[in-house]
Amino acid sequence: MEHILVKKWRALREGETDFEANCAQFVALLKQELDDVSWVGFYWNKEDCLVVGAYQGPVACSRFPNHQGVCGSAYQKGTTLIVPDVHDFPGHIACDPKARSEIVVPIKTPSEQMVGVLDLDSYSLARFTEEDKSLLETLVNDFSEHTSWPAWARS
Ligand code: SME
Repeated sequence: MEHILVKKWRALREGETDFEANCAQFVALLKQELDDVSWVGFYWNKEDCLVVGAYQGPVACSRFPNHQGVCGSAYQKGTTLIVPDVHDFPGHIACDPKARSEIVVPIKTPSEQMVGVLDLDSYSLARFTEEDKSLLETLVNDFSEHTSWPAWARS
């Protein structure tokens, strides 16, 4: 059965392919609908850095090398990372010292190009589950398939 959040996202993006609009709506929906999430946003790969995109939450790091932090690890591995306690993750980048757990989902274009990550933080330990992973991967796939990717993501 389709998750209610997937239904809500599909309704929100219906008829809209603009990249900026879809990014803004995507993170706003997740921040509004998911409990106990302090930050949700995109980091996009640009010249070997992960550069912050649309987000909701406290001001965060603008950029860091694309191999650093939880985001860089998920980006390089191409797989979702769930970190139950960020203090146990060597190299974690503490944009917000209050963040205690994190999930990072890599993002590919429909032509399989790795372009960035979706990052969610929580002030609670072990906030993110396998269920969240599966839901967020479904949402990210849908986002990727239905947005009009800008030139930097296609080169
Ligand atoms: N903690 C992340 C950096 C991004 S902030 O959480 C928004 C990391 O270690 O990659």
